[in-house]
Amino acid sequence: MDTDIQNYARANIVRGGNATRIACFTVRFDPVSSMRFLNYAVPDEHAAPASDDIAELVDAFRSRDLLPRLEYLPRCAPRLEAALTAAGFTVESRMPLMTCGTGKAASPRPVEGITLTTPRAMDEYIAAVRVQYQAFDEPGIPGEPEAKTHLLSAVERGGAVAIAVTADGTVVGAGQYGAPVDGVTELAGIAVHPDWQGRGIGAAITTGLTRSAHSSGIRTVWLDPSGDTAQRLYERAGYRIVGEKLHMVRELHEWSWRELPATTVPAQLERWSGLRPQISV
Ligand SMILES: CC(C)(COP(=O)(O)OP(=O)(O)OC[C@H]1O[C@@H](n2cnc3c(N)ncnc32)[C@H](O)[C@@H]1OP(=O)(O)O)[C@@H](O)C(=O)NCCC(=O)NCCS
Repeated sequence: MDTDIQNYARANIVRGGNATRIACFTVRFDPVSSMRFLNYAVPDEHAAPASDDIAELVDAFRSRDLLPRLEYLPRCAPRLEAALTAAGFTVESRMPLMTCGTGKAASPRPVEGITLTTPRAMDEYIAAVRVQYQAFDEPGIPGEPEAKTHLLSAVERGGAVAIAVTADGTVVGAGQYGAPVDGVTELAGIAVHPDWQGRGIGAAITTGLTRSAHSSGIRTVWLDPSGDTAQRLYERAGYRIVGEKLHMVRELHEWSWRELPATTVPAQLERWSGLRPQISV
């Protein structure tokens, strides 16, 4: 199961057209957003990178002004955490990995005054991505580029987006799943506008999307909950914890070129800054 999910995560990056290969990592660099959750590396199965490989990875993030970050299932690369730790990475979070198999999703519970539907036009995609930014407390007001990159492109490749709409047409919740890979997909971006939370809308979006995925032939839907509220919601929707997902980061304040072996400093500086450093070796 872990391998199927890790394969999905890797394939999803590649087919999104945002993949960069660095050593034994497939890296997603988002074309429109520097949001940390949209920019991350996924290791190859059983990855055991050398310190130079990790330095190259860090360099690729830093040169784009991004936080070096990985998301992966530790059971697929058991030696990686130690290698990353030795290179100055720390654990950002250990998330429960949850899945919902065919026939396990809860029955839908309609919410009075709310319709669950799919976006029909760009303005609804934009409204959906705006709700996601607000719910996830992301700065900025997204528009058409974000709606296309984060939502419409998933639909075009065979995934789905759901929106929760009030009687007057206001989009107050959204969520999505990606195009499946070998019968596996990820449920992501489940978001309800802060003014509309606690009424069952998040649960309705989750069960609606999960059941829709299963009825389209997808056998496993997976996700990693952002916190306790989300985890309870997913458990009620039929998801169960099956493992762990690890997020590792290389924080800027921990980075210092003084940590690097002296011989690597000029080469690193050259790569990071694009300038030939004034240090002779
Ligand atoms: C997580 C999130 C999507 C939940 O959305 P929501 O619409 O508030 O979810 P629900 O209303 O279905 O459930 C939330 C709580 O309200 C309760 N609730 C639902 N309907 C209710 C009602 N009619 N009356 C009273 N309480 C109700 C639920 O029992 C649940 O309680 P619990 O937290 O004690 O278990 C929302 O908080 C959010 O957008 N968070 C930020 C983004 C995020 O973290 N998304 C998850 C990514 S994994």
